Amino acid sequence: METDLTKIGMYKDQQYEVIITTIDKDGNSNAAPFGLRVLEDNEVFLRIFEGGNTIKNIKDKGEFIVNITNDPLMFTLSTTNTIPEKYLTRISNKTKNHGELAYLTDADAYFICEVKSLKTGLREDDIKSSDVNFIKSEVVELNIKNKCVKPMNRAIHALIEALVNYSRINIVDENTQKYFLERFLESERVIKRVGNEKEKESIQILKEDLINQGFEI
Ligand SMILES: Cc1cc2nc3c(=O)[nH]c(=O)nc-3n(C[C@H](O)[C@H](O)[C@H](O)COP(=O)(O)O)c2cc1C
Repeated sequence: METDLTKIGMYKDQQYEVIITTIDKDGNSNAAPFGLRVLEDNEVFLRIFEGGNTIKNIKDKGEFIVNITNDPLMFTLSTTNTIPEKYLTRISNKTKNHGELAYLTDADAYFICEVKSLKTGLREDDIKSSDVNFIKSEVVELNIKNKCVKPMNRAIHALIEALVNYSRINIVDENTQKYFLERFLESERVIKRVGNEKEKESIQILKEDLINQGFEI
């Protein structure tokens, strides 16, 4: 059984945006997006705030599916509510609960995860202060449906936005320049948090160039 996440371009210590699908005790499906960090080739980490359906189902069942997709509609539907059943394929799970699981039918890849440890703590950060669950899970089965699968990462999007603004910074008025520089700082924050080495090097190159041009940043 394949379990090596490097086969789908997911690497240790990197974070990706994924859609997690779960089934509750009554058989209802649920889908929601989450940031997922790779700990080892076959081990992943999630940080999920208390109160949602996904965390409840993960606690009840001890297992879930991670879907790799770049489909904007799937990210939107799963964020605003959940993904309608017509977009899901149900499978009977061969892992410990022998229950039913569901994956996104058009996902480029999906993998079944089994929870190895779940710790809950109080977390205060820029979003909110509430209970948060730290979940380590093992990949028990990886399915690749599209050989060109590429996991979603926020850093490349932030970098492209920063590059577009950079390319326009000398042709806009002062207020817009100020706005671009604020946006640059936000892109830099995202890239430092979830970017790979090339993305971090790129935003640094951009920053130095802006400083050399005389912008205060
Ligand atoms: C791209 C993206 C990434 C997200 N990452 C996380 C995360 O890592 N942890 C978390 O608690 N919520 C995260 N969220 C918010 C959850 O998806 C959101 O709270 C959702 O409503 C939970 O749905 P559920 O009740 O179906 O589980 C993220 C949202 C988006 C759009």
